[in-house]
Amino acid sequence: MSPSVQLVVLAVFAASALCLDLDISNQTSIKQAAATIAGGLYEYHNTSSTAGLFNQPEPWFWWLSGAGWTALIDYTAYTNDTTYISDIHTALSQNLGSNYDFVPAEQSGWEANDDQVYWVYSALTAMEYGFPPLPCKAALNNTVGNCTNSWQAVAVHAFEDFVTRWNLDSQTCGGGLKWQYDPMAKGWTYKNSVSNAGFFQTAARLARYTGNETYTDWATKIWNWSVTSGLVGSGYHVYDGSSDGDGANCSSVDHDEWSYNIASYLHGAAHMSAHTHAPIWTTIVTGLLDTATTTFFSPFPNATGIMYEPICEKQAACSTDQSSFKGSLANWMGKTAVLVPSVSERIMALLGESARGAAAGCSGGEGMCGTKWYVGGFDGQVGFGQQLSALDAVLSLLVGGAPELAVLT
Ligand SMILES: *[C@@H]1O[C@H](CO)[C@@H](O)[C@H](O)[C@H]1NC(C)=O
Ligand SMILES: *[C@@H]1O[C@H](CO)[C@@H](O)[C@H](O)[C@H]1NC(C)=O
Ligand SMILES: *[C@@H]1O[C@H](CO)[C@@H](O)[C@H](O)[C@H]1NC(C)=O
Ligand SMILES: *[C@@H]1O[C@H](CO)[C@@H](O)[C@H](O)[C@H]1NC(C)=O
Ligand SMILES: *[C@@H]1O[C@H](CO)[C@@H](O)[C@H](O)[C@H]1NC(C)=O
Ligand SMILES: *[C@@H]1O[C@H](CO)[C@@H](O)[C@H](O)[C@H]1NC(C)=O
Ligand SMILES: *[C@@H]1O[C@H](CO)[C@@H](O)[C@H](O)[C@H]1NC(C)=O
Ligand SMILES: *[C@@H]1O[C@H](CO)[C@@H](O)[C@H](O)[C@H]1NC(C)=O
Ligand SMILES: *[C@@H]1O[C@H](CO)[C@@H](O)[C@H](O)[C@H]1NC(C)=O
Repeated sequence: MSPSVQLVVLAVFAASALCLDLDISNQTSIKQAAATIAGGLYEYHNTSSTAGLFNQPEPWFWWLSGAGWTALIDYTAYTNDTTYISDIHTALSQNLGSNYDFVPAEQSGWEANDDQVYWVYSALTAMEYGFPPLPCKAALNNTVGNCTNSWQAVAVHAFEDFVTRWNLDSQTCGGGLKWQYDPMAKGWTYKNSVSNAGFFQTAARLARYTGNETYTDWATKIWNWSVTSGLVGSGYHVYDGSSDGDGANCSSVDHDEWSYNIASYLHGAAHMSAHTHAPIWTTIVTGLLDTATTTFFSPFPNATGIMYEPICEKQAACSTDQSSFKGSLANWMGKTAVLVPSVSERIMALLGESARGAAAGCSGGEGMCGTKWYVGGFDGQVGFGQQLSALDAVLSLLVGGAPELAVLT
């Protein structure tokens, strides 16, 4: 969102600035707050000129729309509110592409592995919650079943894309997906956490859902590489990425820590823990959660347990992308609480404090939400990323009553 657009939106919504009421111990109150914030998010779709997408183009990147639809799938599953189902179906169909893997022709040259995987999360989430399927595209020879656009088939197609690209990318760094998969794209020489954790998470979720060992093995392999490459460093700190350009061969890691990177590994590890029951995965979940807690919560003594984005938030310098990252952390911590009962209580305590702060930052009426959850009110910095983060934070309080994450029998 450009600064001038942001001011206009702010002027429109400032007139109706009242705090959103949220009682975190009252399910009805949480559902009402979630509905209001989801309505605010939906405005960004309603006012978009591109079918199937929230506001476009730059700096509203395509991947954010994938994240937005995934949040609305969670919203539907957690609340039983059917408002968005048909628009979710339309939007996902429009972005699937001819191979049913979220590689649409329109994004050619722009789309990177991390962009794709944020759309794939919508299919994985739909698969796990039994979200209504798309009208079946029959494919008799499909290895995954009779519909080539079933949620599972879509996730598997993307998984297979990632395997192919990993193999191509393995000439450097001993493995790892590059950020970009198009060699002409800027960023082709970077191997980053959001892409590799996304592949890890896709493999782990398919492993748990299907029980197919191919996915379990890949999840283990991607995790191991993430550790040996240093993307996951000592003390379970998760760093942004590493270059393989000019012979660098991943010898020096970019040590920026963003909340969505650690969150993506955390959620994948939670699926591996639930699927394998191996103590190592529970150790990994606990380690990542400990580090996420000390790195991304409690920015000030007056804000214990409130989530924030350390690199950019205090100085009000988060981009549209970066403003959405807390949504990934809230969402995936919530699902981790369900998958790994030993960490459930501490996660829900953190999410409770954070959701309370997030809701206090929503101005009510149209439900537009601010950036800083630790100021005890609305800070005036609105945008799609903020709206998505607040929605995910409030929704995560309902995760305990959500449908069970399915597995194939
Ligand atoms: C729960 O919240 C709803 C909606 O705000 C409200 O009507 C209801 O009275 C609340 N219940 C309790 C027990 O506070
Ligand atoms: C879309 O926006 C218009 C104008 O603001 C509004 O009247 C309508 O209710 C919105 N539709 C949805 C589904 O939110
Ligand atoms: C949604 O509907 C299901 C089935 O009727 C029910 O079990 C569940 O409690 C409902 N969830 C919410 C949050 O209302
Ligand atoms: C299915 O696969 C078989 C064997 O590979 C091939 O002969 C046949 O044409 C395929 N059918 C369809 C509908 O693609
Ligand atoms: C595919 O369709 C056939 C014929 O209708 C059916 O027998 C089979 O169970 C279906 N397979 C799956 C995986 O749904
Ligand atoms: C690049 O790093 C990998 C993994 O550490 C190593 O196996 C490989 O030998 C290195 N390649 C070069 C050219 O140094
Ligand atoms: C397991 O998954 C792999 C990768 O998608 C696939 O090639 C294979 O057919 C699957 N195996 C079974 C038994 O479904
Ligand atoms: C992953 O690393 C562990 C510990 O070093 C090792 O036991 C395991 O064999 C590795 N698995 C794969 C698939 O690389
Ligand atoms: C907590 O302290 C910070 C730093 O002084 C301040 O910016 C923030 O507004 C305070 N939050 C509340 C709820 O008072």
